[in-house]
Amino acid sequence: MKSIKIYKNAKLRHKPGLYDIVIEGDKFKEIAHNCKDKYNDCSVIDLEGRLVCEPYVESHIHLDYVYTADIPSEETASGTLFEAIDKWSESKHLLTKDEIKKRAIKGILTQVKNGVQYIRTHVDVTDPKLTALKAMLELKEELKNLIYIQLIAFPQEGMYAYKGGDKLVEEAVKLGADVVGGIPHFEFTREDGIRSVKKAIEIAIKYDKLVDIHCDETDDDQSRFVEILAAEAYFSGMRERVTASHTCAMSSYNNAYAFKLMTKLAKSGINCVACPTENTYLQGRYDTYPKRRGLTRIDELTKAGVNVSLAQDSISDPWYPLGNGNLMNQLDFALHIGHLMSAEQINKSLDYITVNGAKTLNLGDGYSMKEGNKASFIVIDAHSEFEAVRERAGVILSVREGETLMKKAPEKVVVDKIGEMYHNNYYR
Ligand code: FE2
Repeated sequence: MKSIKIYKNAKLRHKPGLYDIVIEGDKFKEIAHNCKDKYNDCSVIDLEGRLVCEPYVESHIHLDYVYTADIPSEETASGTLFEAIDKWSESKHLLTKDEIKKRAIKGILTQVKNGVQYIRTHVDVTDPKLTALKAMLELKEELKNLIYIQLIAFPQEGMYAYKGGDKLVEEAVKLGADVVGGIPHFEFTREDGIRSVKKAIEIAIKYDKLVDIHCDETDDDQSRFVEILAAEAYFSGMRERVTASHTCAMSSYNNAYAFKLMTKLAKSGINCVACPTENTYLQGRYDTYPKRRGLTRIDELTKAGVNVSLAQDSISDPWYPLGNGNLMNQLDFALHIGHLMSAEQINKSLDYITVNGAKTLNLGDGYSMKEGNKASFIVIDAHSEFEAVRERAGVILSVREGETLMKKAPEKVVVDKIGEMYHNNYYR
């Protein structure tokens, strides 16, 4: 007989009252009010009213780059995207497969510690040896019981700007990459950029893969590859299997164009991914004042019906020096920079790092918390969505397919003498 575990007194998102979550083996058996007494001989964990939701989804990171900020290269400090690509190009040949795996594992563990159970990672394939891709393919297999990983064949130095880049992308897909990438705004010409978007769709259709393009990651208001990607997604029928990452230029487009574009994006079915900390750091670098923040139009895209998720992008690499794998930081940045501060927006905002990310990754119905599905969820150290976001609360428990993947003790505050006095005088 399969063992039964019950997590009692769970607060579920958008639902009143507290629930008992019953798990049998690796699946949800029952999620209901006060149902624990129906079961005997089971272990019971009291969540004391804490918020339970689907696991965090990292929808855009570069695991082959993490913790490479210290790789030797000429010191530069403009903080621009194009400088970072040059810096990476100079130093990436120094990395070995083992080194990449070691760094990527550290990055994955950092994300697991923060409640992530699903990761989509871009992997640079503009390397004739495909060293990073081979490293990440091995890692995906080795860690399959710990974490779900999707790999993107990403031509960091261009599908055409890098000689043979298109062939390397196709080769990477043949070797096992799940998603086809691209970087049209980095190609030499607009024509090559368009060609690269069309090529990515063509490869994806040929091998039955998904598409995720770094699209318009620039403040240039003339960078308009997302409209090409949307048209390709729509007319090819790829639709929700296609994602536009970054789309920073959208924050510089004139409104007449931006609002027309957003209706087309919604119609095309494509997903958008925003990387708030990364793009706040990288964009606006050619501005004096006012400085643009380079974040795509999260609120307007959401209102137009486009699926938007938030992602970390970098952890300590040439593109961004910080990053700790905690998606709550991305959410906090996005809410502030994107003016997403109504009570309704705050209450719904966990969608950006959970269910919306799952849609981007095409995880399907198996992701959701419901009876019969695999029992995967996280517990946030807060008692409501609003409190979770306001406190930037941490994840204290991550359960994957019925097993504890990570747990932390809830935060305890020790009241010192001053705190005690303050409490006695003002709160009693
Ligand atoms: Fe990226």
